[in-house]
Amino acid sequence: MSLVESAAALFREKFKEQPLLFRSPGRVNLIGEHTDYNMGYVLPAAIDKAIYFAMSPRSDRQCNVHAMDMNDEYAFSLDDLRSSKKGWPNYLMGVVDQFVKGKYSIRGFNCVFGGDIPIGAGMSSSAAIEAGLAFALNYIFELRIDALALVKFAQKAENEFVGVQCGIMDQYINIFGEKDKVLRIDCRSLEYKYYPFAFPNISIVLFDTRVSHSLASSEYNRRREECREGVALIKKYYPEVNSLRDVSLEMLQKSKQMMDPTIYRRCKYVVEENDRVLDACRELEKGDLKAFGSYMIKTHAGLSQDYEVSCRELDYLVELVKDNPHVYGSRMMGGGFGGCTINLIETNHIEQTSTTVIEKYKHQFKRDLKTYVTSIGSGTNIIAVNEHATV
Ligand code: GLA
Repeated sequence: MSLVESAAALFREKFKEQPLLFRSPGRVNLIGEHTDYNMGYVLPAAIDKAIYFAMSPRSDRQCNVHAMDMNDEYAFSLDDLRSSKKGWPNYLMGVVDQFVKGKYSIRGFNCVFGGDIPIGAGMSSSAAIEAGLAFALNYIFELRIDALALVKFAQKAENEFVGVQCGIMDQYINIFGEKDKVLRIDCRSLEYKYYPFAFPNISIVLFDTRVSHSLASSEYNRRREECREGVALIKKYYPEVNSLRDVSLEMLQKSKQMMDPTIYRRCKYVVEENDRVLDACRELEKGDLKAFGSYMIKTHAGLSQDYEVSCRELDYLVELVKDNPHVYGSRMMGGGFGGCTINLIETNHIEQTSTTVIEKYKHQFKRDLKTYVTSIGSGTNIIAVNEHATV
């Protein structure tokens, strides 16, 4: 049985009615890391791994949710939204909270959800839950909220209810993703542009370190703070500056002497990364994936040495492949301190490359690496029932 069929079957068993079905994908990010909350550029894509929701509206204000992967359930009322010690219900309640705060006319619902996005691997399973539920609520209660507003609700759910000060990238790509396309988002204007990304001989391969260092969320919030500090200093010379997006390398040089060296390096990374996204997109337009990948390698160096969000496992994985002629690009992906590297590998060299990387990683860290060959899929959507005749 497929995952969506399992969700539907469990839903029917528990709630004795037919659900509506939704698919909400995970994401990769090709380039543009730690730039979203600095109002910069990112280049993510939705992937083939997803969370599936089986849902139906209720007539009262009760919400019953079953998490398939954890075999756990939770019930709450729209009138009593309080953070739960269990953790996972907060991703859902945070979204409901946004609809309630926005005074949208929603009622309670029944829901079974689950999927195959690995948790903690940096593929944004949390954004998939948040944006997926926002999309589903909008659909089942016929609220006609536009896509960008749903993205913002999902991001706010994470900021306000879960307490992680994430940027907008993950929720944005979840809703706006399209098959075989990467999306360049300008996180200042929120304008976007699709680039075709389907190459018969190149695949996106993730190497999952399977470590998730506890520093991740505290250091994430600290980086945001350091960038803010940098902006405040630069503003003394350039009052028109509101974020690192408004800063050029020349402007940064001018402000350097009044900056703490750490703050300077953080800012330098972000300013350079924004330029790299634009340069990499130019190569993509030309179809030069080798040149595109060379920017990914530079991004990793910046994340590791200047932004300092990498870790030895991630650095080791990039080091292993970066001079391999069949690997066009490699870098850590997402917030950092664990999770995956994203690699562009010639399709007929995936097996050979992965085998070597798995062996060496095991030898070095006494830990099993996981690999995922991903393809680019569409953003969150309703699944037509006839697509799943057995449902
Ligand atoms: C996490 C956050 C995103 C983004 C990345 C780093 O995935 O959720 O908003 O900041 O880290 O690029």
